[in-house]
Amino acid sequence: MALKKLVAGNWKMHGLSADLAEVEAIASEAQRYPAVDVALCVPSILIERAARAVPGFPIGGQDVHHAEKGAHTGCTSALMLLDAGAVLTIVGHSERRDAQRESDAEVKAKATAALSVGLSVILCVGESLDVREQGGAIETVTAQLDRSLPDSLEGEAELAIAYEPIWAIGTGKIPTMPEIAEMHAAIRATLRGRFGAAGEQVRILYGGSVKASNAGEIFGIRDVDGALVGGASLTAADFIPIVAAGAAAS
Ligand code: PGA
Repeated sequence: MALKKLVAGNWKMHGLSADLAEVEAIASEAQRYPAVDVALCVPSILIERAARAVPGFPIGGQDVHHAEKGAHTGCTSALMLLDAGAVLTIVGHSERRDAQRESDAEVKAKATAALSVGLSVILCVGESLDVREQGGAIETVTAQLDRSLPDSLEGEAELAIAYEPIWAIGTGKIPTMPEIAEMHAAIRATLRGRFGAAGEQVRILYGGSVKASNAGEIFGIRDVDGALVGGASLTAADFIPIVAAGAAAS
């Protein structure tokens, strides 16, 4: 049976107090689509205000430190995210893997730390354009995933995977539908290999230039269980049609 779709927004480094009205609009309009789970991952400093503005609507972080607490200037722990009102967090986004040089081992530690306090996790993986052009995307992404996954899925919090080709993020370019299908099937096989039947229940999101105009086609692909949306999640006008496409495909 198909999994319920999850459409999550990644606001990246966008969002001031004035944008809380947009959070409210998204949360309110998302209620029209109960067939889809919707969430917004906002800058950490906005989490508490966003969570207060939209009680019951899932607000998440975009990164988390792997340590419980300690001498880590500028970092945010899983308990801090939870304390601020977050219920999920992204880990391993390619922008952090690149700019902050996060390794797969670190991403695994972050995912494990978040899940252990009950935060759901969206764990990102994806290949560079070079790797895609050289024909190594499947091997690269499944190996990256294998090294980044937590050891177990025990506990209440949910793990989801986001396949985000680096070259598709913010560029308007997306892989072909067969390429997305092939990658999601490979990710599913990796999850099944690691977690058995529980691996069938892990939602696999596609991310990278998802818009209202391409969401319907992407959501129609087997093993695409939702989307992680950057630029098009910043306003209800752009984001809600993607949620609606998710509902239509459900
Ligand atoms: P985009 O970003 O939708 O703006 O391409 C997606 C992401 O980086 O999560």
